[in-house]
Amino acid sequence: MPTPTAYFQGNFVPLEDAKIPVTTHAFLYGTAVFEGVRGNWNADTGELYIFRLEEHIKRFRQNAKILRIEISATDEELTRIVIDLARRSDYREDVYIRPIAYKSQSVIGPRLHNVTDDFLFFEIPLGNYLDSDAGITCAVSSWRRVDDNMIPARAKVNGLYVNNSLAKTEAQLNGFDEAILLNQDGHVSEGSGENIVIIRRGQLITPPPADNVLEGITLETALTVAKDLGYESVSRSIDRTELYIADEIFMTGTAAHVTPVLSVDRVPVGDGKAGPITTQLQRAYFDAITGKLPQYRQWLSPVFAGAPVQA
Ligand SMILES: Cc1ncc(COP(=O)(O)O)c(C=O)c1O
Repeated sequence: MPTPTAYFQGNFVPLEDAKIPVTTHAFLYGTAVFEGVRGNWNADTGELYIFRLEEHIKRFRQNAKILRIEISATDEELTRIVIDLARRSDYREDVYIRPIAYKSQSVIGPRLHNVTDDFLFFEIPLGNYLDSDAGITCAVSSWRRVDDNMIPARAKVNGLYVNNSLAKTEAQLNGFDEAILLNQDGHVSEGSGENIVIIRRGQLITPPPADNVLEGITLETALTVAKDLGYESVSRSIDRTELYIADEIFMTGTAAHVTPVLSVDRVPVGDGKAGPITTQLQRAYFDAITGKLPQYRQWLSPVFAGAPVQA
């Protein structure tokens, strides 16, 4: 039976009991970093596979460092907490795990030093975030991506997601599924919760991290799978107008998986359907994350065959 659970203040507790005071620094000033981690359910094997946990924990720690947040647990302990959390929560469906490292002290005044820290995890069921089967429509946002020396995009800072939220809401209220943000130079940066890849003349092109992009784990996965399928990829700045003439475009993200983009600013991408490379790549990606491709099994941490729950 599913039992919504959180790891909070050093213990596993019912999710509804994981509560922070309204005076918490992270709530007052957005001083927290988060991760999104997927567990993908395979009904045939009766297993939940947590995807690329090692990489998510590594990025979590790096990002905490940027915000001067101390995570008082080793990588091995964090790994065990995530697996235990998934076992205790006991969802037999696709899930989303949210680690947060945050300034936990009740104190007034924006700063990063001399404020105590904590971390927590919770897990919720999560199916499709974007319609990865049908594909999505996108609009270039009137909101620009925050710059690395404003709030670093690579750091997945909670407060930074106001920028993403402004763009997403603008896109959706204008009738699109997702926003594409440009950086201060006018180059393509990323979606509100996804990296972007365009395909021209058979080559996959994605913006470099210095264009204020989150260094996406799904992106790296997709590019690895693409390479194994024989496609070349390059990291370089992308002009807005390349979105209108690309043969194919897709987005990648933990929540969004690999999702085809069918149009940008109502201009059809290619013939307005998911393109052949995107479709091939998407199929291989879904097989990889659900444990169907042995060559990618090292990316998966099985939950129910994994370590026993700690007392
Ligand atoms: C702004 C942004 N870009 C890209 C991504 C994709 O990164 P990843 O594939 O590591 O989840 C995310 C979300 O996770 C995101 O929030």
